[in-house]
Amino acid sequence: MQESFVPQPYPKKPVSGSVSWKAPSNIALVKYWGKKPVQIPCNPSISLTLDACATRTHVAYGPKQNSEDHFDITFHFEGKEKPAFIPKIRTFFERIEAYLPFLKDYHFDIGSENTFPHSSGIASSASSMAALAMCLVEIEQSLTDRTDLAPDYRKASFLARLGSGSACRSIQGRIVVWGTHESTPGSSDLFGIPWDSEAHPAFHTYHDTILLIDTGQKEVSSTVGHQLMEGHSYADKRFSLAQDHLTQVQEAMRSGDLERFTTLVELEALSLHAMMMTSSPSYILMKPNTLKVIQKLREFREATDLNPCFTLDAGANVHVLYPENQKERIHQFIKDELVEYCENGGYICDRVGNGAKKLIMPSFHSVTK
Ligand code: DP6
Repeated sequence: MQESFVPQPYPKKPVSGSVSWKAPSNIALVKYWGKKPVQIPCNPSISLTLDACATRTHVAYGPKQNSEDHFDITFHFEGKEKPAFIPKIRTFFERIEAYLPFLKDYHFDIGSENTFPHSSGIASSASSMAALAMCLVEIEQSLTDRTDLAPDYRKASFLARLGSGSACRSIQGRIVVWGTHESTPGSSDLFGIPWDSEAHPAFHTYHDTILLIDTGQKEVSSTVGHQLMEGHSYADKRFSLAQDHLTQVQEAMRSGDLERFTTLVELEALSLHAMMMTSSPSYILMKPNTLKVIQKLREFREATDLNPCFTLDAGANVHVLYPENQKERIHQFIKDELVEYCENGGYICDRVGNGAKKLIMPSFHSVTK
């Protein structure tokens, strides 16, 4: 299957050019936690593609001036040269070179910026790897005779996964499944597939307000967290439960059963953190204010007929998910009751979005030499 992503020899010769793409972040409802080489998830996951939290990436490229056998990359973040980011891109290029054999023929000047603050505790690896993968897929298409075709989103998702697993769910909207799942036709460990058409329309317009509880550096990175699932006492049970949770979340999303959806999504978030708390060594990424917010949100839900639900990624921030037709009252509740637990009152209003977008006139820092 992976071989299908290896291209035929390119009919065109290297040229210069530039491409720009914007790709959003995503929030998992059933979590990817634990992987096998290379970037194969131990269980399937499902996510909502976001809209406001995104990375814009610009790649200027031209034939390499030397014949050395290495990747020729410069990298700018928010207009400033950041050589410290290059090793990560190099590792990404090493993993994808077999599928994009032109990578060593060019110099790449990559510029990137996020729409969310750097110190928000929001991981940018999903959006940044997805945006870069889209740029590279477009460059590849320009070397073929197929320039009139739609972008190859499947290949972009396949490549993005090799940069960061969850990035493969940031290529398309609005709901994406990644990982082999028996009752999801077409699902694959190699790339994400859109799953929106099966979901009740209420989920196409869901909101995600991200409460910034702690914007500091995480004590344990996701990379280390995934590694700690190897040999974890509860790993096998976790991986089979996640399969079941995915089946059940899909049932709730098909029927529009918001109560069942809430129960499952919150269980998944807490299961993820339970894995962290029972790793060896154990660790806790939630903060006291994470728990205060969860408690307040559950009390509010009990006391009203509304359906806000929380989820967490690998950090202390809380994502509050809710349907469009409840947004006024839930937003008011967030402002009145939850913002006080956020660091400096910080939160980001996001919602479900459509996935990566090509940028025609990049409105950000020029990175060309
Ligand atoms: C908790 O995708 O960041 O957000 O593949 O090592 O880059 P790498 O990991 P990453 O892990 C995401 C973990 C998560 C859950 C999820 O998004 O499914």
